[in-house]
Amino acid sequence: MKVLIATEKPFSKVAVDGIKKIVEDAGYQFAALEKYTSPEELKAAVGDADALIVRSDKVTKEVIDAAKNLKIVVRAGAGYDNLDLAACTGRGIVAMNTPGQNSNAVAELALCFMVYMSRNQLTAGTGSELKGKTLGIQAYGNVGRLVAGLAKGFGMNIMAFDPFVPSEVIEKDGVKVAKDLEELYSKSNFVSLHIPATEQTKGSIGYNLLSKMPKGGCLVNTARKEVINEPELVKVLTEREDLKYITDIAAGNQAELNEKFGKRVFATPKKMGAETAEANINAGLAAANQIVDFFKTGNKKFQVNK
Ligand code: 3PG
Repeated sequence: MKVLIATEKPFSKVAVDGIKKIVEDAGYQFAALEKYTSPEELKAAVGDADALIVRSDKVTKEVIDAAKNLKIVVRAGAGYDNLDLAACTGRGIVAMNTPGQNSNAVAELALCFMVYMSRNQLTAGTGSELKGKTLGIQAYGNVGRLVAGLAKGFGMNIMAFDPFVPSEVIEKDGVKVAKDLEELYSKSNFVSLHIPATEQTKGSIGYNLLSKMPKGGCLVNTARKEVINEPELVKVLTEREDLKYITDIAAGNQAELNEKFGKRVFATPKKMGAETAEANINAGLAAANQIVDFFKTGNKKFQVNK
């Protein structure tokens, strides 16, 4: 049985060593393809793999077609929009994620982003504090909950909107429930996005919501670029010279944003939300353990293509 890690953006060495140990202790063969630069390299590497561990790597139908022996693919992380689930299901391949394992790293970065934008991207000039400001959390899952906990430490007022989480669950954390997205955006100095990229959410954050933000509002995106309506983002940033946007996933039109809006926008050079040793270890080892458990006992607890 061969377990392949294929990571264009590699895990830390300590995480790779840990994954290798779990795989080999279970009696399986370990292989790694790191920092690859073309889908062809990935297709060649998956040829004889029985199990595959990826991060944001695109596991397309072509990759699945090339992976003749593949039985399980685990996205070491939360969002699995990079996996072609229909192609997996069509071949009877189990697809999983590792929910919660890298959430703390992403949550810490979201707070870092708020401070960074409030302090003029750490350049000269008078900034502002998070204390007393209102934070709107869009989606109260693993990351959203942790963001709320950290924001409380900063003395922020917190609201959240998540149609899939009962109000009592949100309220017991001392977080106010927004009745809809309009309320969330119109009352929040910062809105932090924690929604997945799905057919429903793609392009859903645009002019209507952003134009409702209070003066000086800042949108914080550690989720996915696809959820933003990019032309409408340009429109609202043009009309509202007070609004700001910071993202961990450069927009398709990031060069245009940078040129037009200067220090009101910021994008990390490469997605770094889950780029901590801890997140790599937690998500990577969880992926390896899930694969071993699946092969040994048939456990499919984290399957996402049911
Ligand atoms: C996730 O969905 O888990 C995060 O976006 C992390 O993605 P990464 O593994 O590519 O850093």
